[in-house]
Amino acid sequence: MTRTLPQPTTESFTSGFVFALTNPGSEKALKLEVEAIHPSWRLSYQRRGFVSFKTAEPVSIAALRVPLACARRLCLSLAKAPTRDEAVRRIEGSLAPHAASLIHHALFHQRKMQGVPDAAPACRPEFGRIIGTVVELGPAEFWAGLHRHAPFLSPDPAGDSGIVMPAESPSRAWLKLEEAVRFFDLNFTADDIVVELGCAPGGVVLALLQRGVPVIGVDPAKMAEIVLSSAIPERRAAPIHRPWFYHCRKPAALASKRDLGQGVTWFMSDMNQSPQVVLKECARFCQMAPGIRGVLITLKLTDLLQVADQAQWFASLVAMGFTTIRLQQLSVHHKEFALLALK
Ligand SMILES: C[S@@+](CC[C@H](N)C(=O)[O-])C[C@H]1O[C@@H](n2cnc3c(N)ncnc32)[C@H](O)[C@@H]1O
Repeated sequence: MTRTLPQPTTESFTSGFVFALTNPGSEKALKLEVEAIHPSWRLSYQRRGFVSFKTAEPVSIAALRVPLACARRLCLSLAKAPTRDEAVRRIEGSLAPHAASLIHHALFHQRKMQGVPDAAPACRPEFGRIIGTVVELGPAEFWAGLHRHAPFLSPDPAGDSGIVMPAESPSRAWLKLEEAVRFFDLNFTADDIVVELGCAPGGVVLALLQRGVPVIGVDPAKMAEIVLSSAIPERRAAPIHRPWFYHCRKPAALASKRDLGQGVTWFMSDMNQSPQVVLKECARFCQMAPGIRGVLITLKLTDLLQVADQAQWFASLVAMGFTTIRLQQLSVHHKEFALLALK
């Protein structure tokens, strides 16, 4: 559902509350993150997938600039309303009477905080656009919020693309790759080559091949037939025409420069290994392939509270020369985060 609304004139609108939409089960990790990043915010109200905080002073939308890895959407709260219409009115009332804006709708459904897809085709809002969010938590519980669209924020209601995995995908990793591409607005060029550690059985490889991107997959395990149909026997034998898939069938630690060849531009990992092991391999691969411009890692955590270690992960990526770094839990994740780094 999209409504045409007035546009705010300034950042001057303030509220003493913010709310975050998160994956059920991630609320505790979200609160830990908030404690570290916004120590003056206090927990105000919590439901599954929804946590609100009281700020020490009234804040504007600018206070939402620092992203939270556990929040798929962070909004300035316009408080609870008994009906959807009243929540929409609150959003409209907070905006100045000018240009059009957007309202996203979200609800807790099937044990998930879900976005309600727009009737219109989902295009990306432009950066700077104010977006209202109405969250339905019960028959008479609607929360209204505002945020400003910016780079690396999801364009979709509740940060949930609603992308559906095709039946032919050999694993859910297809969905994780596609969700990350949509969330972060990643673009692959005609020159990109991806190396993926932990590539079997091949969901990510399939998604990349479908996008026309060649992949070098490193994993001792067996690949699914659907990706093997694009496989080449040797890295040196890579054809001019794209895409192709080369299976380097060994543990990541044994992969060498020779396995990578020339021209690798993206490092991806979906290995079920600790963040320390994955980041160590990432540093080694970035040395072997200095053309790597982007990193996308699915970090698997034994405990979501490990999100408190994010500064260490960021520091190791900075040491590798990456300048833009984001950690984000996606709607398709459980005990996982997407770690993105770009040069
Ligand atoms: C979650 S699965 C990966 C799913 C895969 N990305 C896909 O798209 O279908 C994790 C994979 O990591 C691989 N793995 C674990 N440790 C590894 C290592 N040290 N080197 C390479 N692969 C590893 C496992 O063999 C397993 O296939």
